[in-house]
Amino acid sequence: MKKLAVTIVLCFTLLRSFADEGMWLPLLLGEQVYAEMQKKGLKLTKDQLYNINKVSLKDAIIIFGGGCTGEIVSNKGLIFTNHHCGYSAIASASSVENNYLRDGFYAKNFKEEIKTSLSVQFLIRIDDVTKEVLDSLGTLEGKARADKQAAVLAAINKRLSKTENFIECRVSALFKGNQYLAFVYQRYKDVRLVGTPPESVGKFGGDTDNWEWPRHTGDFSVFRVYASPDGKPAEYSENNTPLKPKHFLPVSLKGIKDGDFAMIWGYPGSTNRYESSMGIKLATEVNNPTFVKLRDARLKFMLTEMQKDAATKLKLASNYASVANYWKFFDGETKQLMKYDVFGQKQKNEAAFIKWAKGKPEFESIFTDWEKAYEEWRPYSMHRIYMNEGIFGSPLISFASSLIQLEAVLVKTDATKEDLQKALNAVVAARKTFMEEHNAASDQNILGAVLMMYYKDIPQEQHPIGFFESLKGSFGDLKNESTYKTYAASVFLNTLLLNDEKWNAFIANPDAVVLQQDPAFTIASTFYKNWNSKFLPKSQAFMVKNNDLGRLYLKGIMAMNPEKRKKMYPDATFTMRVSYGNVKNYIPRDAVKYDYITTSKGLLEKYKAGDYEFDLPKRQVELLKQKDFGPYIDKQRKDLVIAFITTNDITGGNSGSPVIDANGNLIGLAFDGNYEALSHKLTFDKNLNRTICVDIRYVLWCIEKLGGASNLINELKLIK
Ligand code: ARG
Repeated sequence: MKKLAVTIVLCFTLLRSFADEGMWLPLLLGEQVYAEMQKKGLKLTKDQLYNINKVSLKDAIIIFGGGCTGEIVSNKGLIFTNHHCGYSAIASASSVENNYLRDGFYAKNFKEEIKTSLSVQFLIRIDDVTKEVLDSLGTLEGKARADKQAAVLAAINKRLSKTENFIECRVSALFKGNQYLAFVYQRYKDVRLVGTPPESVGKFGGDTDNWEWPRHTGDFSVFRVYASPDGKPAEYSENNTPLKPKHFLPVSLKGIKDGDFAMIWGYPGSTNRYESSMGIKLATEVNNPTFVKLRDARLKFMLTEMQKDAATKLKLASNYASVANYWKFFDGETKQLMKYDVFGQKQKNEAAFIKWAKGKPEFESIFTDWEKAYEEWRPYSMHRIYMNEGIFGSPLISFASSLIQLEAVLVKTDATKEDLQKALNAVVAARKTFMEEHNAASDQNILGAVLMMYYKDIPQEQHPIGFFESLKGSFGDLKNESTYKTYAASVFLNTLLLNDEKWNAFIANPDAVVLQQDPAFTIASTFYKNWNSKFLPKSQAFMVKNNDLGRLYLKGIMAMNPEKRKKMYPDATFTMRVSYGNVKNYIPRDAVKYDYITTSKGLLEKYKAGDYEFDLPKRQVELLKQKDFGPYIDKQRKDLVIAFITTNDITGGNSGSPVIDANGNLIGLAFDGNYEALSHKLTFDKNLNRTICVDIRYVLWCIEKLGGASNLINELKLIK
């Protein structure tokens, strides 16, 4: 009886495909969940969803830039994505005189569309290469396996890519290396900015509302993909013409009701739903709080400067937004993990697994080995976060670390002229990018603060030898904040990296000793070499072990329940996935119920003239007060619907994803997750998880009524 009970718990907690949990592989929809999707209301056939030989819905879904999703919405290659996905391109296209980030922008014709450095990728097909990979990995383990895997995947990628046709293959390891799929893409490199609402609309609510519902953000921007005149992918050229896509999404003006079917297609970046309890513990106790604390300090100094003038704001805005995004995420993740005792839940599952694994040599020592690995790694874990988010959280020191390569060439006795020129070209290019977004005032404060935090938080025996002693000798007591401030000021005053004249002289006549004596380079190189020589090997050893054991654990879970294996979905790996669910309200806490939509009424309630996060364009306030909603009005609410929520399972990377109705029409853009389910990367909460979407009717209202760009509306296929 007891054994049965344990098995049941396991089935339910580990394997049951919950109503709306799951980021499904499009090529397996038919076998796995198509029937359930139909039951929920889907009207399209399997072939209309995904077919590599015929036009299907998947052809309208793209990878946008480096880490977002976008969708094609017209037969002229028009793209919708989130404002926060276009943010960096919008900021780059802006100047103090033409401040598109602040004021918004719409191209009135193709000529006015603005060149960007973005590219987009269309998925051509997915091939299963599991057998080929696993056969060549055999029984290898640890570093040998990791190295071999890298080599095998690289070979497959090379074999299936065709550079001249912009075809790129990337094999993804799914189920932690129990399955391998080759994703073949075609990349288009001419992507232009077509339109954006003002930041006050596109980022309405700022970081206060980020990751929260109820929400009133118009989180969209508009781009266009261009191709060569004969319709092929091409580098940017004035002769290129808008791409004629295989498929584009019609846009529905019909509106949504509670319970409506919704599916979301896109590129979720990463989840770790089979993380061990030890991993949860390390995250909540060490990694997350350290990450949050360091970002908190950096953000404070950046915000102070950004609020001083428009030019600084433009320089720092994009970086600030991305630092702030995961600062709030990891703080929320910790809180939710603790609140729902995810550690305890995981331990229960693991106890059942351990029982099952007894007497099975392949699986029985997983958890003893795993605990040992965590124990050995734990003392150094904080140091790793301090390197990435602290020391290299200073943009100057991060840039300085890129010169370590150059130093290596300079000290090498047999380096060729070409080696040197190559290294010099790289640092010259890196400095150009770095200076474009650099603000010295905030960075100097960041450097002082993170050095003091490092001194206090990292065990002394892990410090770089001699660094703090010499700081003490020259600048005073290590317990005083002023010591670090004076030191940081002297670094910023004296480094050649920030001084054009000294930098040019150095590049004209590069010398290892000059570089080694530079104070900013000294910090970068001292901390980096300390980390690299003593702790990086430990970090790598831990990661390899963690991967091996994670893969085995998952293999064991599948072996435990072979019949359920068919209904398992792999963790997100920034590969195309489909999630399905419903529009639905929720109860975030006792006695509180959240409606499934927000309206212009709530937007005006939040509006605060002149506020950094809750301001709106004057014209928008007037139009909304006049209730000038045009064809975008929601007939039931007699108001303009701004955003809505669904039960879909998504994560970062899905940003910009289309929310699609039962007939394949666009009803919204997914742009966020809710605070109550911020533990979603590690565990899916079927009661609380919601995806936050901007209603497509609000997007169109912003484009037409606020932006006056009816030319874009005319391009769409509207379903009324
Ligand atoms: N949380 C959103 C996401 O990760 C990003 C929102 C950006 N907005 C902001 N206030 N930082 O997709």
